[in-house]
Amino acid sequence: MESLILKIQNYKQEIDATIVSDANAVEEFRIKWLGTKGILKSIMGEMRNVAAEQKKEAGQMLNDFKLFVEERFESYQSIKSNITQENINQIDWSLPGSPIPIGSRHPLSVVRNKIVSIFQRLGFAIAEGPEIEDDWHNFGAMNLPEDHPARDMQDTFYISQNPSWLLRTHTSSVQARVMENQKPPIRVICPGRVYRNETISARAHCFFHQVEGLYIDENVSFADLKQTLYFFVQEMFGKDVKVRFRPSYFPFTEPSAEMDISCLICESKGCNVCKHTGWVEILGSGMVHPKVLENFGIDSNKYTGFAFGMGVERICQLKYQVNDLRLYSQNDVRFLKQFTGLV
Ligand code: DAH
Repeated sequence: MESLILKIQNYKQEIDATIVSDANAVEEFRIKWLGTKGILKSIMGEMRNVAAEQKKEAGQMLNDFKLFVEERFESYQSIKSNITQENINQIDWSLPGSPIPIGSRHPLSVVRNKIVSIFQRLGFAIAEGPEIEDDWHNFGAMNLPEDHPARDMQDTFYISQNPSWLLRTHTSSVQARVMENQKPPIRVICPGRVYRNETISARAHCFFHQVEGLYIDENVSFADLKQTLYFFVQEMFGKDVKVRFRPSYFPFTEPSAEMDISCLICESKGCNVCKHTGWVEILGSGMVHPKVLENFGIDSNKYTGFAFGMGVERICQLKYQVNDLRLYSQNDVRFLKQFTGLV
């Protein structure tokens, strides 16, 4: 009896010290302790040697030990992989696997791609330019000479090591780069990131995205501008959307116009986004100023053109009802996941 108590104590200690960390070890454990030639079987056999008056107590002890081993084995089941040599033939390999969550495109990429593809269908080619620009391409060439008050419309980040460089404030700088390198006819769409020294809030950010368009050829008229942008809006927002053009001012276009569309958030009933007017501004546009053409040696008597620039965040806000600009750069997966599946 004494030796049986000691044995059980030692076995318990041994089990406690055993590290079982994979399916093989679980199986080893089973064979060693619970198998037909296992320790539990053999120790049960020792009942024979116990004196009759101690049999009851010994039986109780052995039963407890059996439960201890079985419980321990049970607790290892989660470690055991489902695939063992025995059941490998029973697995239905044609069953679908556990799904791997797929990533999603950023909503701004989705909207930029849509904008670009609509204009590509109209024959516009993509052009890109640098985000770090010089004064000439961002301002001078676009008819914004130094000291021009309209420069204040776009609060600029200058590069501290060399203030003749800056972060472009609009993608109109790409117009300058294109006209520098191409002769008319020109038909380009220029997507890209732009920077302005603004305090970050729900309505303003120090960087955002624009898509610029430029069309130069003989006999290009304001009617072409209107028709092109009307087509764009219908493709982007559907046939029911209404547009209106308001006279405006940009140094690089004359005449200039801003285009509004009927508010899609409230269906023009009046909301915060349209400031209860039923209309939201989505882009600036106009006929390319003759001075801009002449800056690049393009004969303004022979050629005319139109240009426009729109904010991708604004289009995205209207399309997907995103009302805080900060969401675009916070990388909150709960926000981004909502756009899964969009291309
Ligand atoms: N560059 C202007 C801005 O950032 C937008 C713009 C207005 C671009 C009129 C144009 C245009 O090409 O013709 O506010």
